[in-house]
Amino acid sequence: MTTLQPKTNDARLGGIAILDYGSQTTQLIARQIREQGVYASLYHWDMPEEKIREFAPAALVLSGGPDSVYGENAPILPNWVLKSGLPILGICYGAQLLAYTLGGKIVGEGHREYGHADLTIRKTDNPLFAGIPPTTLPVWMNHGDRIEGVPAGFEIIGSTDNSPYAAFGNHQRRIYGVLFHPEVQHTAFGGALLHNFAVEISPIEPCWTTGLMVEQMVENVRQQVGDGQVVLGLSGGVDSLVAATVIHRAIGDQLTCIFVNNGLMRANEPEEVVTTFRAINGPNLIAVDATEKFLDALAGVTEPERKRKIIGELFVRVFEEESNKLRDVRFLAQGTIYPDVIESAAKERPGAHVIKTHHNVGGLPEDMKLELVEPLRYLFKDEVRRVGMELGLPEAMVWRQPFPGPGLAIRCLGEVTFERLEKLRAADLIFRQEMNKLGLLRETAQAYAALLPVKSVGVMGDQRTYAETIVLRAVTTDNFMTADWAKLPYELLGRVSSRIVNEVKGVNRVVYDVTTKPPATIEWE
Ligand code: XMP
Repeated sequence: MTTLQPKTNDARLGGIAILDYGSQTTQLIARQIREQGVYASLYHWDMPEEKIREFAPAALVLSGGPDSVYGENAPILPNWVLKSGLPILGICYGAQLLAYTLGGKIVGEGHREYGHADLTIRKTDNPLFAGIPPTTLPVWMNHGDRIEGVPAGFEIIGSTDNSPYAAFGNHQRRIYGVLFHPEVQHTAFGGALLHNFAVEISPIEPCWTTGLMVEQMVENVRQQVGDGQVVLGLSGGVDSLVAATVIHRAIGDQLTCIFVNNGLMRANEPEEVVTTFRAINGPNLIAVDATEKFLDALAGVTEPERKRKIIGELFVRVFEEESNKLRDVRFLAQGTIYPDVIESAAKERPGAHVIKTHHNVGGLPEDMKLELVEPLRYLFKDEVRRVGMELGLPEAMVWRQPFPGPGLAIRCLGEVTFERLEKLRAADLIFRQEMNKLGLLRETAQAYAALLPVKSVGVMGDQRTYAETIVLRAVTTDNFMTADWAKLPYELLGRVSSRIVNEVKGVNRVVYDVTTKPPATIEWE
């Protein structure tokens, strides 16, 4: 298995292996630890020791999980973990497992503790809480069983009303357990606690920098690819652009990118993608204008899922047609990032629950018989952005808001025609220009215009108009699973509305969408 962490026997340069017991917040542990400048990687708790040793971890974290230690087939603490002598932090189920395995007392039934709790720190000189105010701290709990006796040699560090042993540890052995979740935002000083474990208690020096990430990725790509030829589908999004730039830095002209313009991108985007790519990575880019093909295939189609299917299938056909013209290609590169890997319960997480399978317009058929090259496979989105900046990509591209694979087709409600797309592009550009002037594009997670197939009566000059409607949608969200509508200034909305009805022919009404997700979704289709 190739990870990003340099293989080293020097513990100061090591990383943290997180044994994953299935908690919904496990990936946040990795993110929070990486925020502290220490590399962290997830492994299924049952992954063979040798596999994890390949990564040479300098410390271990045991994640939370849905089980009870008394449950039938409950996941266990593998023997090698305690024998390793490495610093260990158990979180929630991980803490219970530590206490249980080491001879502490766990009591099930009737001790559920979900959500907010107040933690009283009982040992203020404990290194796990170093630098954290010795007061009562709000923490976030999510467990059914509780610990009622810690193993011999361990001391209580903190408790809540419901959990007398909410934090415990043995400093000599560098083993700690916390029943609450330090990785979530609702736990005060959670990042500081993880920092204390990762950097103060463990021997690791925080050296996980963006420059190092880039070096490692470049080296990994060189080793994997050798002198082979690689093809990559550029979508215009940040992930595929950053992946292409990393790969280009590693192997130069052995990489060929294919950019399929499906005619469904926003104003000026196809040109920007091509120009930016060529300025940074040179000429090895094949740009195909397939606008007509896509619009022909979409003619008369109004049903959103059919639009998605048509666009996805046609993309694969066009991409294959182009890549088949290339000679001796052995590798297919993709901008897959860590959350995709985790959510798809990929090979790194055997046995993990599938939360969501990723279907993207770029999803290519498995029978392509090409080996995958995925340099961003271990990075979170914010790390991908940092790498993008490090590689000198323009800020506007690196911070581009997410844009759905099926593009404007799912923002052009009703039939997708060139004329309606142009109307939509013009309105969308005005909205984003005005948002940008106030710096609001970075503050909202997504902001866009959609064209509704709803005609209404208006008056312009002395003339009656009967024209279509633009809806503006802007949302704030961290995770895109839930979202709030953005409270945009009225003056901005007024200016955008006035510009759209004056400048975009065929639109005489502008409305603003004030619906949260759920019950609405971010996109209209
Ligand atoms: P919804 O509309 O489900 O969107 O609230 C959540 C996020 O996913 C994006 N989205 C898509 N991305 N293909 C994509 O690549 C799609 O078919 C698709 N549909 C929605 C959406 O823009 C938002 O960021």
